Formats: sequence, structure tokens, C-alpha cells
Amino acid sequence: MSILKIARMGHPVLSAPAEPVEVTPGFPVAPEVGHLVLDMLETLEDAGGVGLAAPQVHAPLRLVIFHIPQVRAAAGRYRRAGLDETQGEVPLTVLINPVVEPLDDEMIENWESCLSLPGMTGLVPRHPRIRYRGMDPAGETVERTAEGFHARVVQHECDHLDGVLYPQRITDLSQFGFADEIRQRWRAQDGEAEDTENKDSRSPEQESARQERARP
Ligand code: NI
Repeated sequence: MSILKIARMGHPVLSAPAEPVEVTPGFPVAPEVGHLVLDMLETLEDAGGVGLAAPQVHAPLRLVIFHIPQVRAAAGRYRRAGLDETQGEVPLTVLINPVVEPLDDEMIENWESCLSLPGMTGLVPRHPRIRYRGMDPAGETVERTAEGFHARVVQHECDHLDGVLYPQRITDLSQFGFADEIRQRWRAQDGEAEDTENKDSRSPEQESARQERARP
């Protein structure tokens, strides 16, 4: 396994639609796709984050990985992104050729960041409830409904497969900027007690992943 280089916003691989992965239901993916998945898992663990899409590691394929951390470990980090006590943990999921279907017309705004825009954050509208479907590396169908933070992460990652980065979803660009500046804004609005866990320079995603890794 190896840690892959993560493309940053502006690189053409992030703005092009990705190609479907060749899969046969009931059969494992090709060895090179399996290797890509292992490398993406290692890359996500190293970079810290809840999700990664193949185009972010320069592989223009319709493949994403994500996990939804335990609320107890990560609510402080991801509360601004909508993670709360109603959210169950979702184990690390590999989703090949995913299809996302919104379950209502409503949109809810919450804060997102992305490993391809280090240090930045923005307020992004997403559907609060979705159904998604895809295949895992063994060729088994994965089909789930998702709400809240889980739904947000899946929409964010699957957007990467269509060449869309979260700033393109932001409706008010005054709600986009450097995460450390915006955290200062929150502290000023909410009082000094706010976000004490986030006062260092690491992103919320990186902090959460560090905690996740520290778990036995
Ligand atoms: Ni992203």
C-alpha cells in the first residue's frame, strides 16, 4: 500500500467527470481497482478526513470511500457539519459507481471542508435525506438511506465524481473562507466556550481522524 498525492482545487482531474468502474455483480473488482482502494484507505487515514473520492488521488474513476465517526468521539469536530446525537456510526464504506437519489426537495446548509481545499471551509446546501446505491469491492450491492451528516458526506464525495467541488454549491460566498478565520467568527458570535477543541491549526477532519486512529 502507499499514500497517494491528493489533488488540490484547480487540478483538471477534479473538474472532469469520472469514468465508471468495470464491475460484474457478484464478482470482485479487478486487482488494480482493489489496489487503488487499499491505497485510498491508507491515504485517507494519513490525511485525516471522513471521505475520499478516487479523482482526488488522480484516479478518474467512480469510486468513493467514507466513514461516519462515532458521535461521542467527533461531535465537537463535526457539529458544524451537522453531526449530532441522532447520527449512528457508519463503518468505512467503499462505494463503486454510486448513484444518489434525494428523498425530498428540501436543502439544509452546513459547514463542509475538503482535503482538496486544505484549510478552507464553506456553508453548503445539501439534501438532508437521500438513498444511495453502489457496489462494494466484492461485487455486492450496497443500498442505504442516509440522513444528516451521513447524507452530506455521501453527497460531497459523489459530487467529486461529477467534477464538482463544494465551493461550486455555495450560494453565499461570504460563507466561504479560511477555516481558522471562520472559527474565530464563530467564537466571537457564540462566546469563548465555543469550539475550544478546534483552537489549533489542524482541520476538524484531521483532528477527528487522529482521534479515530488512536482508538484501539
Ligand atoms: Ni472533498
